[in-house]
Amino acid sequence: MPHYAYLNGRYVSHDRACVHIEDRGFQFADGVYEVIACIDGRLADERGHIDRMRRSLKELKMPMPMKRENFHDAIVRLLKKNRLRNASVYIQVTRGVYKRDFPFPPKGVKQTVVITARPFDFKNNEKVKVGIKVVTVPDLRWKRRDIKTTGLIAQVLAKQAAVVKGAYEAWLVDERGFVTEGSSSNAWIVTKKGSIVTRKATSDILRGVTRTALQKVCKDLGLKIEERAFTVGEAQQAQECFTSSAVALIMPVVSVDGKKIGGGKPGPVAQKLYASYMDYVMKGKQVSWKA
Ligand SMILES: Cc1ncc(COP(=O)(O)O)c(C=O)c1O
Repeated sequence: MPHYAYLNGRYVSHDRACVHIEDRGFQFADGVYEVIACIDGRLADERGHIDRMRRSLKELKMPMPMKRENFHDAIVRLLKKNRLRNASVYIQVTRGVYKRDFPFPPKGVKQTVVITARPFDFKNNEKVKVGIKVVTVPDLRWKRRDIKTTGLIAQVLAKQAAVVKGAYEAWLVDERGFVTEGSSSNAWIVTKKGSIVTRKATSDILRGVTRTALQKVCKDLGLKIEERAFTVGEAQQAQECFTSSAVALIMPVVSVDGKKIGGGKPGPVAQKLYASYMDYVMKGKQVSWKA
C-alpha cells in the first residue's frame, strides 16, 4: 500500500517526501509541531491542538500557514489516502527555506508544512494494561517549554536515558527537585490521600491538550485536581502515578527510578481516567470516511 505524506500542499509518497537542506527546521529547529490522535475515525481534541499550534507559532512570531479548516481538510485527506482510521497525525510547520542566517528570512518566504500519519492501535496498547517504568533525569530544556517547538534534543537524550535503563518514559526534574513533566507527556500522581496532582501549566511545562481534557473529565467525575509541583520522592510515595499525552493517552506508571508504585500494577484511578477519556473521545464527531 502506498504511504503518503502531505508536503506544502501536495500528497507525496512518504519515501520521497523531502525538505530542503536550507530549511530552518533542519538548520535551527525553527519550527513547531503538533500531534493529534485519530481514534476510530475521531480526531481527538483537534481544535485544542490547532489552537495550541497557533499559539506556539505566535510565540515564535510566525503566522498560521493556513486556516484551521485547511489543516482539517489536509489531515482528513491524508488519512483517507493512507486508509487509516487509527493513527497518530504529526504536523510540523517551520519558518521555511532560506540561506542560513539567524535573523528571520524576508517576508514572502513560504513556511514549510508537513503532515504525516502513522497507524497506531490506541485501543489495544499493551502498555496501558501493564503500565510503564519511568526514570528521572535533570530537565535540561530552555525556559519556554510552553511552546511546542521541534527543538527536542533534551527530550531525545532523556528518552534515550530511559530506554538504556529499561524504562519507557523519562520524567524531567527541575533544579529544585520538582518534576516538571515527562519527555513527551504530562506527569501526574495520586497521593495516599487520594488527591490527583499535576504541575501548574506555566512556561515550565507544555500545557498538554490531553491534560486539559483530563481536567474536564475529572470535573465530570467529581474528582478534584491539585495543580502544584511534586518531588520525585513524593511520586515514589504516591498511591499511583500516570502520564497523559495525545499518543500514549492516559498511561499508568508502575515504577519511578526503580521504586514500585501501587505494588507495580496500574492503579484504579489511572484505569478509570483512561476509560473515561476514551468515552470523551468517542463522543467526538467522527470524520466521515471508511478505511
Ligand atoms: C513535553 C511534553 N509535555 C506534555 C505533552 C503532552 O501534550 P499533549 O497531551 O497535548 O499530547 C507532550 C506531548 O508531546 C510533550 O512533548
